Formats: sequence, structure tokens, C-alpha cells
Amino acid sequence: MRWCRALAAIFVAAALAGCQGWQSALDPRGPKAGAIADLFWIFLGVCTVLWALVVIFLSVAIWRRRGGRPDPLVTNTAQEQRITIVVGTLVGLTAITLVTLTAFSYAGQRRLFDTHEGRITLKITGHQFWWEVNYEDPDPQRSFMTANEIHIPAGEPVRIKLESSDVIHSFWVPSLMGKQDLIPGRQNLIQIQADREGVYRGQCAEFCGWQHAHMGILVIAHPKDEFEAWRNQQISARQPPEDERIFLSKPCIMCHTVRGTSAGGTVGPDLTHIGSRQYIAAGTLPMSRGNLAAWIVDPQRIKPGVNMPLIKLDSEEVQPLARYLEGLK
Ligand code: CUA
Repeated sequence: MRWCRALAAIFVAAALAGCQGWQSALDPRGPKAGAIADLFWIFLGVCTVLWALVVIFLSVAIWRRRGGRPDPLVTNTAQEQRITIVVGTLVGLTAITLVTLTAFSYAGQRRLFDTHEGRITLKITGHQFWWEVNYEDPDPQRSFMTANEIHIPAGEPVRIKLESSDVIHSFWVPSLMGKQDLIPGRQNLIQIQADREGVYRGQCAEFCGWQHAHMGILVIAHPKDEFEAWRNQQISARQPPEDERIFLSKPCIMCHTVRGTSAGGTVGPDLTHIGSRQYIAAGTLPMSRGNLAAWIVDPQRIKPGVNMPLIKLDSEEVQPLARYLEGLK
């Protein structure tokens, strides 16, 4: 019996190990994810109990079965009455269980989609295969754009408008919120909140093409003052790195914006502060000069099917270009 218990302990530990971390619906770090996790545990608990009861009754029935078939012409009124009462009660209990679970589900939905005006509103637009992030502000001077990484203040609700520029994507940061689709020609509204500071990972959850799996997003929750510092830094003009000559002479500027230069393309991510992000290519590679160089040299090798084309670069231009981008803090 001891090995049986040890085996069970190992199994449970292994199963639960996957429930924690920066991308888990079972490790909720905000009220919306909490609503989903509560619902999950309620459903799991009720269904487990019911399943166990069915198995127990089935086992008892098999155990106690009598040999031979009863004669269908012989009726037993007392037994039939008993069966009617038992079946009737069980049907009633089943209906009550279903109605109760529906009520829990409805209450969970209300918690999930309850949004109100917050201090911060973002607009996220899905692209194949990255996330455009707009920080909206009544003062246009304080609006700005970034990509693939969202910074928010901890403990504060943030409203997010979801749109798409091409196909249907789905925004899913399991530790903070359930899935919500980004649909072309339509705007969906959600609200997220991180109770504590931390880094939460999300993932596009709707198959959107070849690189759907490489469409990651990070939500970084800061203490309020740190968030304001980050926001002011993003709004501010960047510190121009040494050499922008190569960048500005390449077709990069047709698709990318670096605010304060002649690069004003809007097809690809805004690069004004790309050096301050933790990852490049929507969560695919950690930010480093080497990875930037590898990405620029051959994006199709890293994300086949991505919309970023191969551009002609001389070998001695690669390192200065990567250094320039890394310097865009
Ligand atoms: Cu975007 Cu899947």
C-alpha cells in the first residue's frame, strides 16, 4: 500500500507542477482569472463527486447482480414503485445540479465581462504574427505605440480594446484573463488586472496561420510609480543611438516607425523603444544583439511564413544595424 501512496504522491506532484508559472489559468493573479479558476474548481469538484457516485453504484449493481433473467410476464408492483421513486428522485437531482452549475457559470461570466472606465485604456491590434499595442490618452501627446509587451500598473483595472488587421486572433493571458477573439471589422472590450507585480505570458489562442504558435505576448505589471516612469520613457523622444544611417537607408523604414526619424512605416511593429523589450519577434527570441542580427539576416529562417521580408544587407552592415536597434531603449 505504501508504494501505491508514493506513486499517487508523485503523480499529483507532477500534475500540479504544470499548474503554476507565468502562463497558467490555474495560477490566477487577477480577479478575472480568479473568476475562471473558481468556476473550474467548482465544476471539477461537482463532476468528480458525481462520477465517483456513478462508479460506486455501478460497481455495487455488478457485484449484486443475480443470475438468470426474470420472467417479463411476472410483475412486482412494490419493486416497480420503488424503481419509479428512485429514478424520479435522481432525475430531479440531476436537473437541480445542472441548473446550479448554470447559475455558477452565469455568475462567473458576469464577473468576467464586467468592465468599467479605468485610468488606462489600451488598444491591441492583432497582426500575423504580432501584437500592436496603442496606449490611448485624451492628450494625443501622451498616446504612444509599442508591440508585443504590455506594461500595466499592478492593482489597477486596465481596459483593452481588441481589434484585428487581418484574420481572427485570440488574446489569452491565462494568469490574468480568459480568451477573447480579435476579429477584423469589430471591436471587443475586455478588462484585465494584475493583483501583484510580475511578468505574465500570453499566447495567441486562435489558429491564425503558419506562425500562430510564435505569437506570444508579455504583460508586465509594475508598482504605480515604476509604471509611470516606463510610460514617460516610452512617450519621450528616444536617445538617438550613434549610427542610424544604415537603418534609414534600408527598406526597413517602409514598414517600421522610429519616432523622431524619417522611418514611419506602420506595417510592422513600432521600433522606437525596441531595445527596452524583453523579446523580439513576438516572444520568439530573447532580446540580444546576436538575436537581433540573426532575425534581420533571415527572418524566414526563424519564423517561416512571417511577413517580414529578407532585405539585402552587406555583411559589415549587420552588426551596426543590430547595435543600433539594441540601442533604441
Ligand atoms: Cu494570431 Cu494565432
